[in-house]
Amino acid sequence: PVPVVLDVDTGVDDACALLLAASHPDLDLRAVTCVGGNAPVDDVVRNTLLVLHTAGRTDVPVARGAGRPLLEHPVDARHVHGSDGMGDLGWDPAPTVPDPRHAVELLRDVCRSAASEGRPVTLVPLAPLTNIALLLRTYPDVAGGIERIVFMGGAAHVGNATASAEFNVFHDPEAAAVVLEAAGELGIGVTMYGLDVFYDPVVTREQAAELIARGGRGPAELAGRLIEFQCERFSRRASTIGDAGAVCAVLDPSALTTQVLPLRIELAGHWSRGRTIVDRRDWSGDLAHDPHGEAPVRVEVALGVDAHRYADIWRRTVLAADEA
Ligand code: BDR
Ligand code: CA
Repeated sequence: PVPVVLDVDTGVDDACALLLAASHPDLDLRAVTCVGGNAPVDDVVRNTLLVLHTAGRTDVPVARGAGRPLLEHPVDARHVHGSDGMGDLGWDPAPTVPDPRHAVELLRDVCRSAASEGRPVTLVPLAPLTNIALLLRTYPDVAGGIERIVFMGGAAHVGNATASAEFNVFHDPEAAAVVLEAAGELGIGVTMYGLDVFYDPVVTREQAAELIARGGRGPAELAGRLIEFQCERFSRRASTIGDAGAVCAVLDPSALTTQVLPLRIELAGHWSRGRTIVDRRDWSGDLAHDPHGEAPVRVEVALGVDAHRYADIWRRTVLAADEA
């Protein structure tokens, strides 16, 4: 199995991603770190512990990380994710407690031991990139323990938090810029699973009802209730698996259509702050003429996805987890 670490702001669709990463036999979930984003960080920790407890994975350490962006003021998305950040399902909190380490320390320790084992981890940030920026700037030696960063965030085309910017990058644009720059300096490959694919893999209300019918407050029921919540909130017949798609991108990258392209984060704009500027001009490999004078970091950008394949991976995995 591929060793992975998720950094989350749980978050209805982060919960979908956690259920998948916790249960899929081809993934080895080493740790989960929490950051303020969709909800305040203490709610994120509580939600994350509940999901892992439901999935029977209380062995996975969960650590609390940054409660606010590097520079911006936090603006959560409880209008999207419910007042508790995870669909207001009313389930009891898990009896488990977080790891005593700060998220950055847990990430450091996991990456260092992955390096010494010779099995570097794939980092999967599904939230504002604050923890990851702090990690790469504070402990750059962890690069040896990171196989790749596959993050949910950004958009080559249209934003969601604003017309320009996707929520995770908009929430902490400086952190996204730091991660990109540090990854370039440290030689860590980056895949952007952004809004160009994020909404495509969907689960219908009927499929959610099948999951809910499993009952028992297990992984399938939780998965179904999360999708049902999103369908109701947006009055839709089907809902995206959201962040869970980025976990699918680790499991099955062949379902993505990608291009390696120069990427910059807009930090100065008013209406465009937090935009991921994906340079789709035909450079023919020659970046020397960039008037900005500095070569941008090149990132593998997901521009298309076999959405059925990802939705199937997710549904099958949560159903199998329920039977386990
Ligand atoms: C991203 O922001 C959050 O609301 C979701 O969990 C996802 O990570 C989508 O823009
Ligand atoms: Ca998220």
